[in-house]
Amino acid sequence: MGRRTVRKPADYDQRKEKFLINVEEDIILDFVKIFGNNNPVHIEIGSGKGEFISQKCRENRDINYIGIELNPHRITSIMKKLDLAEDTNVKLLNHYVDKNIIKVIPQYSIPVIYIQHPDPWPKRRHHKYRLINQPFIDALSLMLTPEGKVEIATDHPGYSEWIIEHFQERVDFKALFENGFSFERQAGHIETYFEEVKRAEGFEPRFMFYQKLNQLKR
Ligand SMILES: C[S@@+](CC[C@H](N)C(=O)[O-])C[C@H]1O[C@@H](n2cnc3c(N)ncnc32)[C@H](O)[C@@H]1O
Repeated sequence: MGRRTVRKPADYDQRKEKFLINVEEDIILDFVKIFGNNNPVHIEIGSGKGEFISQKCRENRDINYIGIELNPHRITSIMKKLDLAEDTNVKLLNHYVDKNIIKVIPQYSIPVIYIQHPDPWPKRRHHKYRLINQPFIDALSLMLTPEGKVEIATDHPGYSEWIIEHFQERVDFKALFENGFSFERQAGHIETYFEEVKRAEGFEPRFMFYQKLNQLKR
């Protein structure tokens, strides 16, 4: 994924108005106000170029989707994939995600969180930048509804092991795959840009699904 500028569409302002959520610091989002309904809200963290969220929202019109992405150019790419008239159940948040995400997402409100190909930060001295760490899993636990799910994919074996170990330490999550991960594409799987590129290079993604249990603490 390069860091090139993405050409803005002629109707950029209209798309921004329709799809982008304005976040005010530390103000919890009001989903009913944002979507105009009470439907469940699923979140994707690190939406990249938006293949996943733009398809998912069309497959499930009775679910609302929020894609959170740090890079504004990628936010523009995602907005270009969305339909101004039809895609009323998707919004985007241009935001850095870490444990502080709970300052904007309501507690116990999200049934499913998707994290696909988070940056693996392969060098040991960069592991501290990895999205998945215990304070962030605490935040996942706080955002998820009881029995809510987290679906994670990575083609990086070292990061996969790291993720499995971090979730193994938890009493508030159970792994849904016996060996910690699966190579099988699951029902509803959508191949993202990054996954397609990495598969072509010979890297197979590992899927790790977790379900929240009732215990709230590690
Ligand atoms: C390797 S790319 C994968 C993108 C997409 N999920 C896919 O599979 O094609 C990682 C994405 O996560 C975004 N990202 C990285 N760290 C983030 C963070 N802390 N908060 C929000 N987005 C982040 C990056 O800008 C990038 O778009």
